[in-house]
Amino acid sequence: MANPDSSAFWDERYASGETPWDYGGVPPELRDYIAKQAPFRSVLVPGCGRGHEVEAFAKKGCTVTALDISGVAIRSLRRRLRPFPQAKALEGDFFTRELPEGSFDAVYERTFLCALPPEQRKAYVRRMQVLLKPGGWLFGYFYYGTNGAPPPYPLAKGEERSLFMAEFDLIQSVTAEKPLAIFEGGEHWQIWRKRAKGLIGAGSQNVFR
Ligand SMILES: C[S@@+](CC[C@H](N)C(=O)[O-])C[C@H]1O[C@@H](n2cnc3c(N)ncnc32)[C@H](O)[C@@H]1O
Repeated sequence: MANPDSSAFWDERYASGETPWDYGGVPPELRDYIAKQAPFRSVLVPGCGRGHEVEAFAKKGCTVTALDISGVAIRSLRRRLRPFPQAKALEGDFFTRELPEGSFDAVYERTFLCALPPEQRKAYVRRMQVLLKPGGWLFGYFYYGTNGAPPPYPLAKGEERSLFMAEFDLIQSVTAEKPLAIFEGGEHWQIWRKRAKGLIGAGSQNVFR
């Protein structure tokens, strides 16, 4: 089997259909967020996989950029995005693919961070910080738990403080209403906001429910 850090590993999983992380649709917190209060026009979805949520953003009229290292996943998503000219699916590595800096209102995360080896976590946060506009939003599903056979690589509770708190405020954190069984109740819906200069700590909280 290919190394989990390689595109070949993910291509094999999508080609064989062995994708237990795939929600198969739009999870409820995101569905409500998009419907009621989405404060964004341009959205990036890194590690988008099959990208069901990408279609949901596009239907809402957002300009969406979906990115994945797996060409198999991206080719299948491109076909489904044909009706949405403002949505694009790019094949590439989140850390090295050229993307416009400071240009996204929001980034949607689901089981992408936990697919990355822990030594890439700081680079993930730095990249988010670079790509988002000041005051931009990073929201979605973050996986907390204990290590089994990775991937996934879960976050430890409290780890988010050292990772995000220098640049982001935590606006909301709740246990996912309808988590997938494989994540054993460790999926949290979280909304983070990139701090605009001079707004240190605004709206920050660190409450798990
Ligand atoms: C666990 S899957 C989650 C997919 C999707 N977000 C979902 O919820 O169904 C992790 C995804 O991250 C992608 N990926 C892994 N490393 C990546 C990287 N460095 N850059 C872009 N995508 C990457 C994989 O190809 C895979 O589609």
